[in-house]
Amino acid sequence: MTEKRLRAGVIGVGRMGQFHVNCYSEIPDVKLVGVADTNEAAGLAIKEKFGVEYFSDHRELLEHVDVATIAAPTSLHYEIAKDALAMNTHLLVEKPITRSYDDARELFRLAEEKELVLHVGHVERFNGAVHELRELVDDPILIQSRRLAPFNQRMASDGVVLDMMIHDVDIILNLVNSNVKAINVMGRSVFTDRDDVVMVQIMFESGCMATITASRATQNKVRNMTISCRDKYIKLNFADQEMSVHRMAASEHELRASGQDSGAKELRYMEAERRERIFIHSHNPLKLELQHLVDCILKRTERRVSVEKELRSLEVALLILEKFRRFNDSE
Ligand SMILES: NC(=O)c1ccc[n+]([C@@H]2O[C@H](COP(=O)([O-])OP(=O)(O)OC[C@H]3O[C@@H](n4cnc5c(N)ncnc54)[C@H](O)[C@@H]3O)[C@@H](O)[C@H]2O)c1
Repeated sequence: MTEKRLRAGVIGVGRMGQFHVNCYSEIPDVKLVGVADTNEAAGLAIKEKFGVEYFSDHRELLEHVDVATIAAPTSLHYEIAKDALAMNTHLLVEKPITRSYDDARELFRLAEEKELVLHVGHVERFNGAVHELRELVDDPILIQSRRLAPFNQRMASDGVVLDMMIHDVDIILNLVNSNVKAINVMGRSVFTDRDDVVMVQIMFESGCMATITASRATQNKVRNMTISCRDKYIKLNFADQEMSVHRMAASEHELRASGQDSGAKELRYMEAERRERIFIHSHNPLKLELQHLVDCILKRTERRVSVEKELRSLEVALLILEKFRRFNDSE
């Protein structure tokens, strides 16, 4: 690297790629150099707005950058990432990194061989609410997650599992430090011939159970998660960034047993439940994610999520997809 500031580029400047352009342009250690997109109008619009170079071919952009985001359609991630790693480019590949586990493993192997940083874009990991969950959740018993949205033609190239549910799979696998014991899947197509509505039950070796529902056939946006632990119940609404922790007040019996009983009269007025609202920071999660990428490159900061865990989220998402297909074939 000749410059102190990392030279960055974005490949694919559709909906997600534009957010990356915005964030790179605001990170002090980074100089946004250019973008690549086969859609000339999309690329030229960014060139004009940010005063950067535009290339129709990603390989031309790669000659000018140290780090790149790949936010092209998922089906192209593997080929583009291979080109980028061959040209010694550090990478953030938007989720899902690839549609095949072996392809993803191959990309991580290539990156390791060349000592390049390769992250998968799971922006939810940097969401303030998810950060709080990691602090609060201890030995969860039951996790229930719902991520529902209206159908949008733009999403049609991936199904709901790789487009939406993979976020919750990743959050849950990183909260429950245990291997998956069993998975049940039900689902159906509604607006496409792919997975549009999917319900999953996961049993972990620790005994934790998770149910995940994802839909892109719902006339409202719903994103929430609830978690039961032995000593608390956590409710999180991602859309409003509202989070609360509920605990039952100690029962009369428990108080007597612990010798803290101050008389039945006070107990009658005791609240049955205590509720605590949790403050959630509102930093831009994508900017935090890209800053972490930059720190891993420039300062050799340890990656937040290990390669093994990156691969595990994809592996479980692909297993869910395979079970969805088998469920529908057997109907
Ligand atoms: N992390 C998240 O929350 C999140 C959210 C949305 C999308 N994504 C992921 O980002 C990726 C892109 O999704 P999107 O919604 O932005 O799609 P999009 O269709 O809006 O954008 C894709 C862009 O890539 C361009 N493109 C196509 N072929 C290309 C090529 N060969 N070289 C360069 N550019 C090319 C298209 O012209 C388009 O501008 C997908 O993998 C998706 O799963 C992640």
